Amino acid sequence: MVRISVIGMGFVGLCSAVCFADRGYETYVSTLNQERASLVSKGVPPFFEPKLKEFLQRVLERRSLKVVIGREEAILNSDISFITVGTPSNPDGSINLSYVRDTIIDCAKALRENELKHLIVIKSTVLPGTTGGLIKRLTEVNSGKKCGEDLLLCFNPEFLREGSAIYDTLHPDYIVIGECDEKSGDVLEKFYRDFYKDTLPPMIRTNPATAELIKYANNAFLATKISFINSIANICERIPEVDVTVVAKTIGLDERINPKFFNAGLGWGGSCLPKDIKALIAFSRELKYEPEMIRSVWDVNESQVELVTERIKKELGELNNKRIAILGLSFKPNTDDVREARSIKIIDKLLEEGAKIVAYDPQAIPKIQTIFGQRVEYAPSAIDCLKNADCCVLVTEWDEFKELYPEDFAKNMRRPILIDGRRIYDPRKFAKEVRYIGIGFGGFKQT
Ligand code: UGA
Repeated sequence: MVRISVIGMGFVGLCSAVCFADRGYETYVSTLNQERASLVSKGVPPFFEPKLKEFLQRVLERRSLKVVIGREEAILNSDISFITVGTPSNPDGSINLSYVRDTIIDCAKALRENELKHLIVIKSTVLPGTTGGLIKRLTEVNSGKKCGEDLLLCFNPEFLREGSAIYDTLHPDYIVIGECDEKSGDVLEKFYRDFYKDTLPPMIRTNPATAELIKYANNAFLATKISFINSIANICERIPEVDVTVVAKTIGLDERINPKFFNAGLGWGGSCLPKDIKALIAFSRELKYEPEMIRSVWDVNESQVELVTERIKKELGELNNKRIAILGLSFKPNTDDVREARSIKIIDKLLEEGAKIVAYDPQAIPKIQTIFGQRVEYAPSAIDCLKNADCCVLVTEWDEFKELYPEDFAKNMRRPILIDGRRIYDPRKFAKEVRYIGIGFGGFKQT
């Protein structure tokens, strides 16, 4: 069985590493962050992700996963290395390759004296041309080896979602191998065939630049789908009795459209979609093509936050000293990640208008506290959050919020105005007891 190393201990790195180790591969996972390494080696995930703790503890117990600080030990004890370090945004939206660059230099240097034909697999999201250009060059120069001869190199994008990262790693819709040469692709294909066995999804082998663009196109399409349905939602809201959830569910029956990833609401956030859309726009401009459609996808997403604050103002008038309850802070349910979360933009805007914010989230309060500190009041439960509020905005659709009854809002709030930013409540039930405003819901006809 081949030996694996995973360089980087973020969502992609750690979740992939525990899955490899769980299938019996001897796996090294490496980071430069001592605190992270110490937590992970004790079986404590550094972030909340369903199933991760269980997988991590199991593979540590079985000793199929080894946690190391630094690159060399991991590289020298493996045949295939997956590079999963972050590629954050620069202030102008372009991507910052410094982690990738440093990692590749370290890995390549470690391989200098290595006799074996090592395969380096880039999983970090990078722009078209990066693997075959900069990464290949840095690898060859620093290892003294030639790609395709005594060293192998592929780009292999990752499509897992936070909140279902383990499931997605084990059940991807497809695998893309962007190979620098045929031999590199063969080795990676063999690994995936062995890993997935009879659950192997479609595998596409192509050149690295196409594979790199596939990753951006995939995320850009997902963002487009959401911004599209949000545009339709904004039209629906202006027509009594028209409901975007019915529109989306129905047109989703057309197989060419499909119902997944089609929930209207406050828009998309997270560590990937916003960063990748910004990078694709910047890259496209560098190529002298103005990506008008992708730019509108971005603009529609930004305006969802403006529209919701306008809506609150329409209901409450001046926001000064009005108490607004925010249910849900993470960028999506089942994660404590608040990167580019809609909650941050909404809270910022409401604070600017002088509102008092009380917030609750099952997992993300500690992370939001590092951003807003004492400027926001944090409630110990959803019900506590609602107490004496003048308005409530449901920002993240955690399951526990779906359990709330209309009476919970009606009895606890000073003014029971509910903005359902993710359309989790039934307007017919809720509108009887609260002032219900749902994104993409035109309201009931006045009789
Ligand atoms: C996204 C992609 O879905 C993954 O395939 C990809 O691997 C990942 O980015 C990445 O590039 O690493 P993720 O950011 O974890 O995954 O989360 P998503 O499930 O895509 O959700 C992104 C945002 O879209 C969330 O804020 C969510 O609330 C919003 N969303 C999602 C909607 O507003 N409506 C929907 O119907 C679906």
